Amino acid sequence: MQFGPNFAGLTCFSCGTPHDAAVLQTVCGRCGLPLRVDYRLGPRALALQTVRSRAPSLWRYEEVLPIRAADAVTLGEGLTPLVEVDGVLVKDEARNPTGSFKARGMTLAVSLARALGARALAAPSAGNAAGALAAYGAAAGLPVMVAMPEDTPRAFAEECRHYGAEVHLVPGSIADAGKWLKANGPRDAFDVSTLKEPYRVEGKKTMAYELLEQLGELPDVIIYPTGGGTGLVGMWKAFGEMRELGWTEKRPRLVSVQAEGCAPVVAAFRGGEAATKPWPDPRTAAYGLRVPSPIGGFLCLRALRETAGTAVAVPENEIAPAAAELSRRSGVDICPEGGAAWAALRRLRRDGFVKTGERVVLFNTGTGLKYR
Ligand SMILES: Cc1ncc(COP(=O)(O)O)c(C=O)c1O
Ligand SMILES: [Zn+2]
Repeated sequence: MQFGPNFAGLTCFSCGTPHDAAVLQTVCGRCGLPLRVDYRLGPRALALQTVRSRAPSLWRYEEVLPIRAADAVTLGEGLTPLVEVDGVLVKDEARNPTGSFKARGMTLAVSLARALGARALAAPSAGNAAGALAAYGAAAGLPVMVAMPEDTPRAFAEECRHYGAEVHLVPGSIADAGKWLKANGPRDAFDVSTLKEPYRVEGKKTMAYELLEQLGELPDVIIYPTGGGTGLVGMWKAFGEMRELGWTEKRPRLVSVQAEGCAPVVAAFRGGEAATKPWPDPRTAAYGLRVPSPIGGFLCLRALRETAGTAVAVPENEIAPAAAELSRRSGVDICPEGGAAWAALRRLRRDGFVKTGERVVLFNTGTGLKYR
């Protein structure tokens, strides 16, 4: 196995402690917070022209990825289309393998895990990450165990079993599923939970690279449904890398969208706090947003503040109607999380955060099909 051409190692996002990348790493051994992947980048590290000439998958960004494309466990993820509706660009992540943006994270995490010797994989999930892990585990030839809340729509568990994964349905939220796995999961399985290993973020960040590639410049505002925060944190990280590459100085204002029934990032953002507090009794049918205590909450808050962004909590009764409305208007199958983003945009326009003439990208993070 070979690391990516510019890979420079792993450092804790919070305390700066370096970690050995030659072995499987989880969180910081010193403070327990997420690890960051570093690169040696500069204006000559990668030209946009070069990227454009490569095959259409996120592995075309090899120079900013931690492992060589030749060692990838890939199902053809990334390069999803932008669909214009009412002046807004909807990035349709449903077009990824297994129907969600989770494929981006899992192609990276599973590639590294396999290369570094993992024998089995496990993760708690709100649904989409489990499906993606099951598929990439199958592609890698590694056994997978997932745990999800028992009220997760049936299609998610069936999809995982279809790929040969072992599925456990657990009472409570994804936090309880995580505790269950820790206590009952196989000892030899590597845990690929959101931000508890360093590489899923590296896949998710390619969403921002693609926006620049597709639009020629980053948009003014990005509206993103936030659960664990890998998408948001990944894109924020990519803005910094694209600056080092000399591609752009622009930083879109990031907007984190959550549901009123589980909004730890919104509450901490409004309260001026540096970290999120656990959300008691999390409830929302936008299951991907039901993450009561994201380990990367502090990174989401940094991303929002550094980009002059904001955070919006959407009432539960607006989510499904907004998803239906945007589906009717666009022809894109909008998932509840994407619906929440659409409902948030209405509010952001009303409040003047989004102004006429600004270029806005809204993420439809997955297909609506599995929620029915
Ligand atoms: C469809 C969908 N949207 C958004 C999210 C939140 O993702 P993140 O962990 O990147 O915040 C999830 C996570 O499960 C999801 O499944
Ligand atoms: Zn640390």
